Amino acid sequence: MKEELKILPKHIGFIIDGNGRWAKERGLPRSMGHDAGMKNLDVVIKECFYTYGIKTVSLYAFSTENWNRPKKEIDFLIKCFRKYLNKSFVERYPKVKLNIMGDYTVFPQDLVENAKRTIEETKNNTEFVLNLGINYSGQDEIVYAVNKIIKSGEKEVSRKTIEDNLYTACQEPLDFCIRTSGEQRISNFMLWQISYAELYFPKTYWPDFGKKDLFLALKEFEKRDRRFGAIKEEK
Ligand code: IPE
Ligand code: IPE
Ligand code: MG
Repeated sequence: MKEELKILPKHIGFIIDGNGRWAKERGLPRSMGHDAGMKNLDVVIKECFYTYGIKTVSLYAFSTENWNRPKKEIDFLIKCFRKYLNKSFVERYPKVKLNIMGDYTVFPQDLVENAKRTIEETKNNTEFVLNLGINYSGQDEIVYAVNKIIKSGEKEVSRKTIEDNLYTACQEPLDFCIRTSGEQRISNFMLWQISYAELYFPKTYWPDFGKKDLFLALKEFEKRDRRFGAIKEEK
């Protein structure tokens, strides 16, 4: 399938949405939707890296606004993140550098330690990058970057200094952003990096968004005419 695609994004983002509705449609508790969603993460992310060779994958797994959910659901999500970031991450994702977007130190200590260890163990991987957004907000990220610049003594910010101080410093901007479940909004995801990304809103709920759906999404990306404000030269 990869051979069919001539143009691929260098940086792809996923707003993984619809876990709750997926579960509800099956008469299951929302937690089962998150469980299925987490299992699907491994499948889709590996496909991006190892089948398509996409260098950077960004994932929105928990927003700062998601703290407004019931404690029971938040606790379950934390359990999922704990599993996702456990010791096996390094074996599950060879050649991938883990980069967490958001202040993850607010999570329980063991999760924080696991995350720190994984970041450390993968820091020299140069082939692929996984940006994991947990306790993430695009607006907060920009504020965080500007505050870092102020602390460094600069009097003015520029596009370059902001970019250099985002969680995604030195990375390519987002090329393609997929939000599952039919919602057509960004919900505070990578507001700076998304400026010229192509957006794609499949109706499929995240737990059902499989390899075939990813292929169709990438086929759609290939068809998009990215102009970046310019026009095509007339021949
Ligand atoms: C996405 O699924 C997962 C997170 C936001 C953590 P949702 O939990 O938002 O699922 P819906 O939107 O209620 O279906
Ligand atoms: C966006 O999903 C956040 C994540 C996927 C982590 P939500 O389900 O929280 O977004 P809204 O509330 O529908 O905008
Ligand atoms: Mg949702």
